[in-house]
Amino acid sequence: MVTEFLLFVLVFVFLHLAFKKPSRLPPGIWGLPILGKLPDTSTSLAEQVKKLRPIYGDIITWRMGSRVNVFLCNYEVIKRAMAKLELSGRPDFYTYSITGSGSTLGIVFSNGAPWQKNRRFALRQLRDLGMGKTCLEEVMHSEAGYLVQDYKKHTGKEQPLPLSLGVAILNVVWKMVADMRYEMDDPRGQEAVKLVICCRAPLQSPVFLFNLFPWLLKVAPPFLKEKLGYNKVQRWVERFLDKVSEVLKDHKDTLDPSHPRDLIDQYLIEMDHTKGEATDAPYTELDLRTIITDLLLAGTETTLYTVHWAILYLAKYPEVQARVQREIDQEVPKDSFLFYYERNKLPYLEAVIHEVHRIVSLVPLAVAHAASADIMLDGYLIPKGTVVVPHLEFCHKDSQFWDQPNEFNPDHFLNPDGSFNNRKEGFLPFGIGRRACVGENLAKVEIFVFLTALLQNFTFSPPQGETLKTEREPYVTILSTPKPYRVVIEERQSVKREE
Ligand code: HEM
Repeated sequence: MVTEFLLFVLVFVFLHLAFKKPSRLPPGIWGLPILGKLPDTSTSLAEQVKKLRPIYGDIITWRMGSRVNVFLCNYEVIKRAMAKLELSGRPDFYTYSITGSGSTLGIVFSNGAPWQKNRRFALRQLRDLGMGKTCLEEVMHSEAGYLVQDYKKHTGKEQPLPLSLGVAILNVVWKMVADMRYEMDDPRGQEAVKLVICCRAPLQSPVFLFNLFPWLLKVAPPFLKEKLGYNKVQRWVERFLDKVSEVLKDHKDTLDPSHPRDLIDQYLIEMDHTKGEATDAPYTELDLRTIITDLLLAGTETTLYTVHWAILYLAKYPEVQARVQREIDQEVPKDSFLFYYERNKLPYLEAVIHEVHRIVSLVPLAVAHAASADIMLDGYLIPKGTVVVPHLEFCHKDSQFWDQPNEFNPDHFLNPDGSFNNRKEGFLPFGIGRRACVGENLAKVEIFVFLTALLQNFTFSPPQGETLKTEREPYVTILSTPKPYRVVIEERQSVKREE
């Protein structure tokens, strides 16, 4: 009897110690042994974490499955944390390794030496191929011209925004990466846009459970994998990677090292130069394929949905749209473009774009980071392996920084004299620190160019008798996308008169 009692006490003490929340972790939710507490899938994770902030403070622990997550809900804390090398890793999530065929290569999901090499490579390419110079911007101007011609075919009816916007945005990244473009009405271009956009649906399915319970992937029977969306993800990845591999093969067959055409050529040349070198971060074809995939996925949908949101807000607030158009009419000669360095001529448009970034918080929880070593943050322990998530949207809705956090109000970014107020505090649409968005400048120029061209030529209005809603798709884990909406596109009379 005594032995049994002692055994019981021992087991109890063991379980208590094994499953207890370590006291030095930030306060928060620990949940049940093994399960932790899973998020509610009927609403966005960002929203659920926001509700925990008044209870637990700026730094919140939430154990989900076997993952310990720490959410950062304060601008200053995020800035400090994201500057630390130890918090610049990515977790070993299942969904972070699928585009690298099981290994974390490329830029977005890689770690250590391969990440540093690839991030540097991509930034150099973006610079050399014209980000910051005008070359890639001229590509955007010509894409915007084609887009305007295409939109002229879609005027006067209630409809979703034509897919050609996605083709134009894909073309900019595609030009830089593979020196290729699609015609606006080319079904292959529209197919490619759908393929890029399609990736999020399977990734936002219950397949995320494999991220929270990594062991499940090894033991789950086939029917369970199918149910959780695993096969759908694999099918999408295969289709996507097949396309990328085709383009890669074509580049290898036609490479002329003395005349590199694009990012792929530059990588292939680098691969040849470094062949046989002993290094932690070799140039490999699989790595290149993952970089291409990263740039297409990270660079197309983000920019596309930002423009989508902007048009939705402008159609909903016609007085804001009219003011942007007046500004464009005054400063931009018909059928021509401003370069991004001339953007101070359009302060109101700049304010509108920034306000759209703020209110929609397109990537509300950034991309998850991971602690590569035990580290202290504001007196709390963040153990090695913890998933660390900067709550970017929280900053965008923090009344410490914004007069009307939940209203669409471009005045947030205007000085009293009407000039643009490039405020940085509390504004992090592209993240901050070592992992901040590689394509920030590219995206900014694209959004500026495409919106200027569209608003110079068209007015966007709600369908007759309808009030547009700016609600998001309810369950968001990666991007905050608008619910599908319809607008009427009308060619602008003032522009027409001059023709
Ligand atoms: C409106 C458009 C965009 C938004 C709002 C956006 C936002 C972000 C955010 C929040 C992150 C994560 C930062 C973090 O982990 O802390 C990120 C990462 C990244 N973005 Fe963007 N992005 C946009 C456009 C682009 C474009 C056009 C490209 C490239 C063509 C791009 C490439 C990347 C890459 C490669 C990373 C990973 C960086 C790394 O892990 O080191 N993004 N972006």
